Amino acid sequence: MIKIIETKDGSHSLLNETLNETYHSTHGAIQESLHIFIQNGIAFFVNKNNGEDVTIFEVGFGTGLNALLALKFATENKIKINYHSIETFPIDATVVCQLNYPDLISFPDSKDWFQKIHSGAWGESAAINAFFSIKKTKQSIHEIKLPVETFEIIFFDAFAPAKQPDMWEFPVLEKVTQALKPSGVLVTYCAKGQLKRDLKSLGLEVETLPGPPGKREMVRGLKHSK
Ligand SMILES: C[S@@+](CC[C@H](N)C(=O)[O-])C[C@H]1O[C@@H](n2cnc3c(N)ncnc32)[C@H](O)[C@@H]1O
Repeated sequence: MIKIIETKDGSHSLLNETLNETYHSTHGAIQESLHIFIQNGIAFFVNKNNGEDVTIFEVGFGTGLNALLALKFATENKIKINYHSIETFPIDATVVCQLNYPDLISFPDSKDWFQKIHSGAWGESAAINAFFSIKKTKQSIHEIKLPVETFEIIFFDAFAPAKQPDMWEFPVLEKVTQALKPSGVLVTYCAKGQLKRDLKSLGLEVETLPGPPGKREMVRGLKHSK
């Protein structure tokens, strides 16, 4: 049901054979994650807010690639990140240990970090190093109750609307938008018109930005400050 594939930048991704859907862009998993979530999400927010510490909420933990790259960013830039991610179908440890992300990320501790990110108990916070702590929750976005105005950044990384339309329904977008702090940002690889209209109607300022290689556009939504 889950198969490891190699994307065009050499980094792995997973194919969910039931949905016939990959976890990342086949043009490059690491490249996509860096462009959408790290550069246009975290780096954008931190630059705009003079290096403030950040709390991130991710929809879809998946392989843990976004978490690993966020940890690397936090460590290199010496900012503190609190990362909360949810997932309904955690991948097997036998799959995790085959993923090549730690080898491709040029950082001495990356193997140890990736292992710690995955081995931490679900539902509990774990400090991976002085700059990064993570809490993974095994729960659906449909069930979880999110605190309002809590997160500076939302990584909205669900499977595509064509494959999992329920993830992109208005009540879900409303829930995550309410959980964003004023001045917070939501980033996603999806740039569909309906998503942009929904985010606008929820009060976000919506930017359509160039996507990573192989993908024309991505979306960033900004919540106005009070
Ligand atoms: C595009 S992948 C996420 C990729 C991930 N961010 C990464 O860095 O590898 C989408 C993820 O959403 C998860 N998912 C599916 N339904 C969900 C739900 N109702 N609530 C939360 N996560 C869900 C899937 O199991 C899958 O791991």
